[in-house]
Amino acid sequence: MTESSTATAHSTWDVDEVRANFPILLRPFESGKYRKGTLPVFLDSAASAQKPRCVIDKEREVEENYYANAYRGVYEFGARVDEELEASRAKVANLIGAASSEEVAFTAGTTMSINLLARGWGGKFLGPGDEVLISEMEHHANIVPWQMICAERGATLRWLPITEDRRLDLNQLDEFLTRRTKMVSITGMSNVLGTINPISEIARRAHEVGALMHVDAAQSVPHQAVSVINDGIDFLSLSGHKLFGPSGVGAFYGRRELLDDMNPFMGGGHMISQVYKSHSTYSDPPAKFEAGTLPIVQAIALGTAIDYVTSLGFDRIHAYESQLLTYAHEGLGSIPGLTIHGPSIEHKGAICAFTIEGASSYDLAEWLNSKGVFVRHGHHCTMPLHQILKIENSVRASFAFYNTREEIDRLVNAIDFTVAKLR
Ligand code: ALA
Repeated sequence: MTESSTATAHSTWDVDEVRANFPILLRPFESGKYRKGTLPVFLDSAASAQKPRCVIDKEREVEENYYANAYRGVYEFGARVDEELEASRAKVANLIGAASSEEVAFTAGTTMSINLLARGWGGKFLGPGDEVLISEMEHHANIVPWQMICAERGATLRWLPITEDRRLDLNQLDEFLTRRTKMVSITGMSNVLGTINPISEIARRAHEVGALMHVDAAQSVPHQAVSVINDGIDFLSLSGHKLFGPSGVGAFYGRRELLDDMNPFMGGGHMISQVYKSHSTYSDPPAKFEAGTLPIVQAIALGTAIDYVTSLGFDRIHAYESQLLTYAHEGLGSIPGLTIHGPSIEHKGAICAFTIEGASSYDLAEWLNSKGVFVRHGHHCTMPLHQILKIENSVRASFAFYNTREEIDRLVNAIDFTVAKLR
């Protein structure tokens, strides 16, 4: 985006108007350990984002008016549910720039999507001598399923290193990406460092050696536009609850011919074509990957969340979040002994993970909680990354388009106060 379009995009952002859609952010503390009348400062959207009223209302609308199981009844409620589920599937496909909604299966979330891929594709196509390439900044959900399937199939898991400035070390890509590489599975945006990865470049280089490209888009998709076709992405996983939608639902994208070739992940109702005593045949994608009853209401309301986010516009979201991030870096960066773990802001999304010399992450998070500032602490499901950073855990503040500069002030002031006491 150019400087002038960034300015224009941000000048039209009315954060109060946006916040008015999120009831949980506007409910002052009434009593207890928080100062009466203050508002919660929610800085943990990377773990799970808050839901706008339209998503909450949609879930209630389905439950109260036409709830039924999906793909099983011709009666009015069932038909309405089927129609809305398919509309939601089309919204996911549109969001990620897929050619067809048949390339999108609903799952329980990113973790299930990656397990589906590891077992459904890796369980069929990986063998001894083959390699899967991930990176040192992956979430456990994009590590452990690959460890499991590689061990089972005799394949090797390789780790693309990160640089000192906390980006993927693309200079080493040629060494790690060879004719033995069958799958490259990389996060679109690190859930700790915030690093935004150059997916289309990695995909291009993966394809040059005949490998497929999977993107763990759990963190990236709520913040930036993606196009699986333009970016050369073969598979993509995402979660609804990080995309301002319900928990318990996510999506798995695969190019149609790849989905056709994959094994189903789970067996059961709806994923079959014919079942005999001797064997079964399977439905076409995406039903082949949707055994059992879907998270019906959540999957429908995911479509509502997508409508909401796209109505705000990714350019405008990006421009506003970049401002917040700059402000947070300035504030946190001024605190003595505080290290922000991640690249410079032009290479990252709206996440700040940090440690403070001599302070425990748990104590910091507890202290912030006592001030009504909600952050996550721990290893954030990235133990290998924390080992490389040579820290056991960190505090993470993650921002969304509903956060404000005043909330960042409350974060920084609370930390400043406790650090002053440490000195
Ligand atoms: N994956 C989520 C996080 O990074 C839970 O916090």
